[in-house]
Amino acid sequence: WVLMVTAQTPTNIAVIKYWGKRDESLILPINDSISVTLDPSHLCTTTTVAVSPGFTHDRMWLNGKEISLSGGRYQNCLREIRSRASDVEDEKKGIKIAKKDWENLHLHIASYNNFPTAAGLASSAAGFACLVYSLAKLMNVKEDNSQLSAIARQGSGSACRSLYGGFVKWIMGKDDNGSDSIAVQLVDEKHWDELVILIAVVSSRQKETSSTSGMRETVETSPLVLHRAKEVVPKRVVEMEEAIKSRNFPAFARLTCSDSNQFHAVCLDTSPPIFYMNDTSHRIISCVEKWNRSEGTPQVAYTFDAGPNAVLIARNRKVAALLLQRLLFHFPPQSDADLNSYIVGDKSV
Ligand code: DP6
Repeated sequence: WVLMVTAQTPTNIAVIKYWGKRDESLILPINDSISVTLDPSHLCTTTTVAVSPGFTHDRMWLNGKEISLSGGRYQNCLREIRSRASDVEDEKKGIKIAKKDWENLHLHIASYNNFPTAAGLASSAAGFACLVYSLAKLMNVKEDNSQLSAIARQGSGSACRSLYGGFVKWIMGKDDNGSDSIAVQLVDEKHWDELVILIAVVSSRQKETSSTSGMRETVETSPLVLHRAKEVVPKRVVEMEEAIKSRNFPAFARLTCSDSNQFHAVCLDTSPPIFYMNDTSHRIISCVEKWNRSEGTPQVAYTFDAGPNAVLIARNRKVAALLLQRLLFHFPPQSDADLNSYIVGDKSV
């Protein structure tokens, strides 16, 4: 027999960024972060997990290609989930798995991303969140999403925020064992449903410096990063929560853009400096800044993760349509070798 579960998890985009760890193996951050979870129809991971007495070892395929599960991040997630497994019974198929049997049963895992892996579009976030969630369902793990978020966090920090829709906060926590470093939902996906997110895929190539090594180098060499983590982000997180709860777009846009710019400033303050944005990214920022200034009040917020792709958040559908028009005029996908396509989607679960 084979028992299978399939789950789908969207990625999330941080509006207050996580950059820097205080514990590398448990993945504990140096500051809180806040993100918005995207609509699953656009950027998401679909994972099927299967268990069978016929499987001889744990195996995983990513986008159809077998990958090694020997890395610490996968091992930590698998161990944490297995240790919480419960009895499972499928009467129709006549399958009964006792809690203690899970230690000796092996898994096959197949995962697909519907967007470029490691191009700064947070593929690890959706990937590990989906892996942990689907395994938890297969093994009848009773923990709630916040507790599952602490497991997904050990796969990739940003993954802990993809267990929820809407706006999500990853609380950095204080404990050395990471038990209080969890994600919580601030508001659900219905709370601010006029927002529209548009992603300008400036480059779908793999990024040169991974987030993991980039943030390690920043923590080791940047004099600015501690100021950011200790002085700037704590205040910004409070203001951002307030802006989200009261749907205050001007405050939300100001905080989102400032935080993205400070994150990239901290990357530049790293030795050797890390450049994630390129000329096209910079031109997109200028275009949005000019537009916002000419309107007198912000219409669009921009944020860039560890790559050159722009995530643009429009205050409503009308603004999103105008934004797309402007972008297509200034940055036509075909003629500009740097710019591939646009992904337009709603913020949602
Ligand atoms: C710039 O979560 O990919 O997207 O924890 O080492 O796997 P690891 O890093 P990762 O870093 C994400 C960095 C970011 C900001 C954010 O999502 O908060």
